[in-house]
Amino acid sequence: MVSPWRWRIIPNSRQLLVLACLLFLFWCMTLYRVSNFSLGKQKESEVLKNEIISLSEKYVRALSRENTDIVDGPYAGRFTAYDLKKTMAVLLESMLERLSRLENQVHHVMNVSNSSLANLTRPLLTEQSEDSIHAEDLILGKTEACMLTEQDKQVYTKCEGKLEWMRQMWQSDACYASYGVDGSECSFLMYLSEVEGWCPKRTWKKNVKVPIEDKSKVQYIDTKDDIEGLMKILVDPNERQGYAWIRMRIRKMWPKWVLAAGNLKEKQKLEKRRRKKILVHLGLLSKQSGWGFAENQFKGGPLGELVQWSDLICTLYVLGHQLTITSETYQLEKILSQLPAANSPCQSRTDLPVHIIYTDIVGLRQFKRYVKGGYGKFSCLLRIVDSFGTEPAYNLRMYAKAHKILTSWGGQDLLPQQFFTMFPHSPDNSFMGFVVEQHLNDSDVKGIKRENWALVYGKNDYMYENATRVSLYRGKDKYLNTIKKRLEVHGTVYVDEKAKTKRSYMPSFVTNHGLQKPEDFHILLRKSKIFVGLGFPYEGPAPLEAIANGAVYLNPKFSTPHSSKNIQFFKGKPTARELTSQHPYAELFIGEPYVYTVNMHNDTQVLKVLDKILQNKEFTSHMPYEFTEEGMLQRMNAYIEHQNWCQFQKQEAKWPPHSAISFVMGADGQSCKDACWQQGLICEPSHFLQINSARSMKQAKVDCSREDYVADIFYPGYDPHSNECVFQKEELLFSCVGQKTNFRRFCPCRNYIKGQTALCQECL
Ligand SMILES: *[C@@H]1O[C@H](CO)[C@@H](O)[C@H](O)[C@H]1NC(C)=O
Ligand SMILES: *[C@@H]1O[C@H](CO)[C@@H](O)[C@H](O)[C@H]1NC(C)=O
Ligand SMILES: *[C@@H]1O[C@H](CO)[C@@H](O)[C@H](O)[C@H]1NC(C)=O
Ligand SMILES: *[C@@H]1O[C@H](CO)[C@@H](O)[C@H](O)[C@H]1NC(C)=O
Ligand SMILES: *[C@@H]1O[C@H](CO)[C@@H](O)[C@H](O)[C@H]1NC(C)=O
Ligand SMILES: *[C@@H]1O[C@H](CO)[C@@H](O)[C@H](O)[C@H]1NC(C)=O
Repeated sequence: MVSPWRWRIIPNSRQLLVLACLLFLFWCMTLYRVSNFSLGKQKESEVLKNEIISLSEKYVRALSRENTDIVDGPYAGRFTAYDLKKTMAVLLESMLERLSRLENQVHHVMNVSNSSLANLTRPLLTEQSEDSIHAEDLILGKTEACMLTEQDKQVYTKCEGKLEWMRQMWQSDACYASYGVDGSECSFLMYLSEVEGWCPKRTWKKNVKVPIEDKSKVQYIDTKDDIEGLMKILVDPNERQGYAWIRMRIRKMWPKWVLAAGNLKEKQKLEKRRRKKILVHLGLLSKQSGWGFAENQFKGGPLGELVQWSDLICTLYVLGHQLTITSETYQLEKILSQLPAANSPCQSRTDLPVHIIYTDIVGLRQFKRYVKGGYGKFSCLLRIVDSFGTEPAYNLRMYAKAHKILTSWGGQDLLPQQFFTMFPHSPDNSFMGFVVEQHLNDSDVKGIKRENWALVYGKNDYMYENATRVSLYRGKDKYLNTIKKRLEVHGTVYVDEKAKTKRSYMPSFVTNHGLQKPEDFHILLRKSKIFVGLGFPYEGPAPLEAIANGAVYLNPKFSTPHSSKNIQFFKGKPTARELTSQHPYAELFIGEPYVYTVNMHNDTQVLKVLDKILQNKEFTSHMPYEFTEEGMLQRMNAYIEHQNWCQFQKQEAKWPPHSAISFVMGADGQSCKDACWQQGLICEPSHFLQINSARSMKQAKVDCSREDYVADIFYPGYDPHSNECVFQKEELLFSCVGQKTNFRRFCPCRNYIKGQTALCQECL
């Protein structure tokens, strides 16, 4: 610890000015005391009063001017003048004492109205003395207790290592000094907590002043409706027509986006939001991806990803943000190398030239390769478009490796919430979604009569296959035969004219319409009473389109859940999610009377359900709000305004707000996802940190017999037999889906808006 009177740094000119001012005042006062008797009483007090007032004014002005630069506590934001601070504090305290003594004298002498003096001195006395200037405390080094406790070391596992690095390396780059690092232990610790977020903040929490931002530089935005502006941004650098499909979808849907923005504005305030600079990098369209997405988009390539990208781009543009769209690595490289911060090792996250970066796993890999050392600095800005989701166990490389589940998609070490999924899968990830297109308007629909049809979900013949290969798909012909007892069965399977000889799996009683254009497919749905799932493909948009067109979706239940354990399709995907039916979203979030989840092998059950559906003469259509343009705008806007992972790690989450959160103790062996769902709530991983302590366990009426910190996906929680509590040691492993027998998990849950699952009722 340094002596308060030793000067370690050379103060700058402004500091000297303050000091000079202080010393002058000090000297003046001393002088006045000496000259107390030399003047006539009346004249003396007049001069005294004026002098004091004018000096005090000067002093207060100087102090307040300089105060913006002086951050209280041992660590100064822009310069480290801690020793100087101490000196000044002592002087100031002494002066304040003298000042009030003098003030009293003046009163005695003058019997003046006390208000003018009171006005000058009171702010000084009250404000300063309350939270910062306690010379004695400072001299005793009270706020210099820059030590890590054992508890800190357990919770902030990376802090010690970073601290050690700082001790050796703080002079390796000037940027550390610019953040006030001066070689003292305190400055290391404060830098690591305040700027990089690795270490606990609490010691000096109260005294750190956040620099006031220049409000005049903030740009505010409203929604945008001019499509040509967007088309100008969406230009393929290679003229490979990479964006052609996206441009087509955007043009087609544009009027609906504009309408949706207008409708949303009537419900909530959208003006005066801060403009964000957003980089969208479509790794899947790059040449390096080797996927040929750009080339195959009109040849029946997988379009699900392109749907999600075009809807995302529309959303961001309509919301008014400043967009840059890239798909090639050299574009990325060019943008990123221009960033000043990219070339400096300091992990500062202020003044970044990009506020948010959307990309996919391919893009993320390119990103890591081209940004190199700067990656850590930008990683908190990333949002990864990841249709299947990434569970915490697969995300943390160390953990995935140790458990032999590391795949080429996993191990990214981001926060699980930075992955954005197509459907609300695991609440560990964020749900981005997409827009389910509605091709038919009210006037189109008028002339269409509903027939006694069951339309089968499946564009490819193999989907009808009884699949001796995969036992889980067996028995589809029997299922369709059962349906045939009540309805005419129709299909839309692509017929390859050249390969006519190939055996067809589709039963002969199915009327095949061939592959349909989207509009015609919707007309078929309008004519059908039931849309029949065959178990594959998983979680597509078609069942939602069916429901929107008034056809009830028959959703096959999987008696043995499908997952990466038993289905090739899921192998290598960084998730252990178990699908209990072909479309879990339809099963869980929509349900009857729009969706019936049935065991397709149980004829009696299938017939019973069919009768129930057919008896309901009033066909209604339904579209979950979250899959409309308006719903997507609302959800993404909430994310953009509130999700911020560049804050320091250990801060308690402010969003979703506490009022939406309740803490639930799961049953033995239950995951948090299930425990919350049972209460009509959704697991909210951002609030795990709050309950990761014995104190919160106690509030939940659990008296821990032992406390332990372990890095695994089941914690926090306790063993109901031994009452042994285990808390989470590795923040990235907080998981909604982890479950363990003989263990009760403690879970943060939030409420949600029906039809807008991603948001809590207080989240807007
Ligand atoms: C100033 O003079 C008064 C008498 O007029 C005396 O009581 C007081 O102590 C003197 N103040 C100082 C600070 O010397
Ligand atoms: C001093 O103050 C008292 C009450 O505040 C007042 O009555 C008195 O007249 C004052 N004396 C002078 C000289 O102003
Ligand atoms: C100022 O004087 C009034 C009476 O004139 C008194 O009530 C009040 O407490 C005084 N204020 C201070 C700060 O001395
Ligand atoms: C003192 O401050 C109050 C309010 O802060 C103000 O109303 C009053 O006029 C001030 N008095 C003088 C003498 O400046
Ligand atoms: C419905 O869509 C058709 C084209 O699909 C269009 O010609 C017609 O004007 C639309 N009607 C309404 C009421 O929007
Ligand atoms: C088939 O479904 C019916 C009605 O839901 C049920 O009672 C029966 O137990 C089921 N049979 C089998 C084998 O699961």
